[in-house]
Amino acid sequence: FGNQSLAGLRVLVSAGPTYEDIDPVRFIGNRSSGRMGFAVAEAAAQAGAEVTLVAGPVSLATPAGVMRRVDVRSAAQMHAAVIGAAVHADIYIGAAAVGDYRPLEVSAVKLKKRDGDDLTLRLGENPDILASLAAQTEHPFLVGFAAETHDVADYAQGKLRRKGLDMIAANQVGGGLGFEAADNALTLYWADGAAELARAAKPELARQLIAHVAARYRATRG
Ligand code: PMT
Repeated sequence: FGNQSLAGLRVLVSAGPTYEDIDPVRFIGNRSSGRMGFAVAEAAAQAGAEVTLVAGPVSLATPAGVMRRVDVRSAAQMHAAVIGAAVHADIYIGAAAVGDYRPLEVSAVKLKKRDGDDLTLRLGENPDILASLAAQTEHPFLVGFAAETHDVADYAQGKLRRKGLDMIAANQVGGGLGFEAADNALTLYWADGAAELARAAKPELARQLIAHVAARYRATRG
């Protein structure tokens, strides 16, 4: 197999946002469309991998060649689905925008408008999926994403080290890139290197990312 092939490897990808319910009709979410993660899943399948895709609430068709898709809604559900599937994965690529917090109380009935009064929601921290995987003694090759509005390089390299990742793909959000957009631009960082992937459509960027992941995987895990 070529250095950039993923033939014989099992790749797990997360994509899209998470929704944290407040009551039966309201939730806290984010602007992730799932396009980046779905493109990564498709590119991994094209590179020969057996791909499992864990998707948050998105309206996208399953990409060609993807073997398994698991649909989830909340960060807790995504955490459980990814941790369960990671046992069978050689590589995990976390492109999902996982909610960091969730309402501590979910109302069973629709909250009523309280004319004139403020409403306070108490939020609790969600478990970090990448950090949970990194803490396991045997875990897949871990690729994180970092979406930042400022100081992208510093935050991304910090996350690479702190979360114990093998690689991180940093994207600046805003200016027609990142969340929801058709295009993105990525800077990849690993322990002793970096690569700049210039602005391009997400499917093209995903193919370049997968080529780097395959090369780093072969270099470090054989
Ligand atoms: O979906 P699109 O509209 O195409 O947009 C793509 C994207 C901008 C969402 C994508 O390219 C991207 O950057 N995804 C990660 C967004 C993000 O929320 O990053 P973060 O900096 O909050 O998290 C860093 C990493 O930790 C991510 O790999 C994330 O999946 C992971 N994480 C975060 C929180 C958590 N509880 N568990 C995690 O595993």
